[in-house]
Amino acid sequence: MRGAALLALPLLLLTAGCSTKPGGSGSATGGGSGAGLPPLAKKASYKVGFSQVESNNPWRIAETKSMRDEAAKRGDQIVVTDATGSPAKQIADVSNMIAQRVDMIFLAPHSEKPLAPVVLQAKRAGIPVILVDRRVDPSIAKPGQDYVTFIGSDFVQQGKEAADWLIKESGGKAKIIELEGNTGSSPAIDRKKGFDDEIKSQPGMQIVASQPADFAREKGRQVTETLLQAHPDVTAVYAHNDEMALGAVVALQAAGKQPGKAVQVISIDGGREALQAIIDGKMNFVVQSSPFFGPVAFDTMKQYANGDKIPDWVVVKDKTFDKANAKAEIGNAF
Ligand code: AHR
Repeated sequence: MRGAALLALPLLLLTAGCSTKPGGSGSATGGGSGAGLPPLAKKASYKVGFSQVESNNPWRIAETKSMRDEAAKRGDQIVVTDATGSPAKQIADVSNMIAQRVDMIFLAPHSEKPLAPVVLQAKRAGIPVILVDRRVDPSIAKPGQDYVTFIGSDFVQQGKEAADWLIKESGGKAKIIELEGNTGSSPAIDRKKGFDDEIKSQPGMQIVASQPADFAREKGRQVTETLLQAHPDVTAVYAHNDEMALGAVVALQAAGKQPGKAVQVISIDGGREALQAIIDGKMNFVVQSSPFFGPVAFDTMKQYANGDKIPDWVVVKDKTFDKANAKAEIGNAF
C-alpha cells in the first residue's frame, strides 16, 4: 500500500481556537449552528461539492484523489470542479454547486479575499461550507459563524521550521532567494511570515530577493534564473512549495551552481520528487504539507451532521524531511 491510502492513516490532527456547536440544540436530527450556520441533516449518503483551485501539480492531484476516494468509500456523491488557477472561475464553480443544491461544499480557496464572499453566498443559500487546505479572509468570513471550520496545516509554523533548519545548517550566514506562492493565498502569506520573521533575528542572514512564482515549477525556474543574474552570490533558495524548488534546482544547475551543496534548497510539501531530490543531494530540507484531506474532511462533515462541537481550526500536523529520513519516507509520498 502506497501514497494516499498509507499517508492518510498517520495524519496527525490537533484542534485549535474556539469551537462551533452545530445542531442548534445539538439534537440528533442533524447539524446546524446556534451561531447561524446552515444545518446539515443526518443522512445515509450525501451529495457534496469539492472546489479545487487547479490541477497542475502532484499536490493538487493527490488532494483531489483523496477527496474522491473518501467519497467513494462512504458511498457519497462528489461533484469536483477545477478552477484552473482562476479566482473568477472558482467563484462561478461554487455558485454552480449552490445552484445544484449540494449538501455540503468543501472549498480549497485560491486566495483569501476573492473567495470570501462566495462563502457568505453559500451560507445565505443554507449550504454549509468547510474550508480545506487554504483559508479565506477572516475579516470577511469567519469560522464557526460563516463557515463550519478550516481544516489545514499551520503555514506560519511551516515557514518557521524552514528558517530554523537554515539558521542551524548555515551557522546563521546566508544570502537567500525566496520563491513565493500565488499572491494573496494563505500559504503564500503565512509561509513568508513564518520564514521572514525568524530570519530577521539573524544579522548574518539576508533575503536578497523575494518574488512570487505562483507555486509553479516552470515559473520557479524562470524567476530563479532571473534572480540569479542580479544575485549570483546566493547561498540558499527557500521555496513556498516543492514545485518551485524543483524549478529552482534546474535554474541553479543551468547557472553552473550545485543545488543542495553550493546553494541549499528548502521547500514545503513533501512530494516524491522533492524527497528524491534530497536523496540525490540536490535539495536539503522539506517541511511536509499533507494533501490527504479526504478522511478528515468527511469525518468532520459527519461530526457536524451529528451535532458535535467542531473547532474553528482542525490543525493538520506535519513532519519534516531531510537526508536522514527521505529514503524511509519516500514510499509514503505523493
Ligand atoms: O495550499 C497548499 C499549497 O498549494 C501547496 O503547498 C502547493 O503545492 C499548492 O499548490
